[in-house]
Amino acid sequence: MPSILVTGGCGFIGSNFIRLALSEDCSFLKDNGFDKIINLDALTYAGNPANLSDLEGDSRYQFVHANILDQALIEELLQDEDVMALAHFAAESHVDRSIDGPEPFIETNVTGTLRLLEAAKKRWLSLNEEKQAVFRFLHVSTDEVYGSLSKEDPAFCETTPYAPNSPYSASKASSDFLVRAYHHTYGMPVVTTNCSNNYGPYQFPEKLIPLVILNALDGKALPIYGDGKNIRDWLFVEDHAWGIMDALQKGALGETYCIGGRSEMENIQIVKRICALLDELAPISENPNVESGKIAKYEDLIKYVKDRPGHDRRYAINCDYIEEKCGWSPRETFDTGIKKTVEWYLANKQWCKDITDGNYARERLGNS
Ligand code: NAD
Ligand code: DAU
Repeated sequence: MPSILVTGGCGFIGSNFIRLALSEDCSFLKDNGFDKIINLDALTYAGNPANLSDLEGDSRYQFVHANILDQALIEELLQDEDVMALAHFAAESHVDRSIDGPEPFIETNVTGTLRLLEAAKKRWLSLNEEKQAVFRFLHVSTDEVYGSLSKEDPAFCETTPYAPNSPYSASKASSDFLVRAYHHTYGMPVVTTNCSNNYGPYQFPEKLIPLVILNALDGKALPIYGDGKNIRDWLFVEDHAWGIMDALQKGALGETYCIGGRSEMENIQIVKRICALLDELAPISENPNVESGKIAKYEDLIKYVKDRPGHDRRYAINCDYIEEKCGWSPRETFDTGIKKTVEWYLANKQWCKDITDGNYARERLGNS
């Protein structure tokens, strides 16, 4: 019963990946001879089992509550469950948190990745030659490892030198180098993807897009760091998930692939776009959380706040290489993706409430 192990599958991108891989219109499992997906997640503040509650009872899905630091448990799991591929999403992922406290980022993103690589190496070495040839370790990384671009610079690509600027990106860069080293030194069959900013359903509301949607609906301030002109390259989360599947199946060993949406936008443009969509889909006149007459449109809630320390100015991805080599390209435009996203948050108020009722959210949301 060969299986694929996903780490961090209760988070934003991992849960979207698992749902898509198990969906009717996706032949990923069948094409690769996997009978099931095992999701190993430590359920940190960002890991939410509700993200995959719709898969309960699906025999092709199994959840394991564990930490990637637990190498012995993972070694046993890989062997017992005949794991033939790993898709490694688990990480501390929020830049602001890494600025407040870098240590968990080093533990999970660096030491955790090292332990996972060690366990995967042991499993890979235990296989016969034929099985070794199909075994894969896919490492999910970020474009932030490349640092910051000026407006005139060409977009990041696979050969851009690493220049991480935050504790988060430094920890991801370290993990990328470990993965690279395991290929170079031990011949491990690894593939790395470096993706731009994702958005879509199930994103934890500490990140810009869900934070703005939920704060606006609650009639709270929409915090814009600095002058709001920092640029990110946005990709709908399912497009990232498709890219990971393509890289797993068609990616060359030891290779890295940049994934992005060719959708560069200033933060202020994004926030205004969300506000315009909310004006249309959840008019203020019908929103009981906004004091009547206080504001005319959601945009009026925008508030410029102190900038993020070391805030990278611009990210942009040139994704020609994965398009050419793996046949991947984004299916959503920003217009279609952001509409789906806003509609999802409006249709899933209980999911949002369950998160915003928690202690973490009380401390963070709306306090800016
Ligand atoms: P997320 O914070 O939403 O989810 C992370 C998940 O990992 C959570 O379920 C959490 O419980 C789990 N986790 C954390 N530490 C763990 C540990 N020690 N052991 C086991 N599980 C642990 O993150 P995300 O936004 O879904 O990002 C997933 C991956 O994609 C990360 O590696 C991130 O660096 C990368 N990435 C994210 C983006 C983005 O825009 N969000 C873009 C490019 C790359
Ligand atoms: O580029 C990929 C990266 O994108 C991933 O590796 C990270 O895991 C992911 O969190 C994301 O990092 P960012 O720092 O770009 O995402 P965030 O949503 O935190 O911020 C997006 C931009 O919006 C950034 O320029 C900071 C700004 N911002 C963010 C928040 C939370 C604000 O102006 N106000 C806010 O309240």
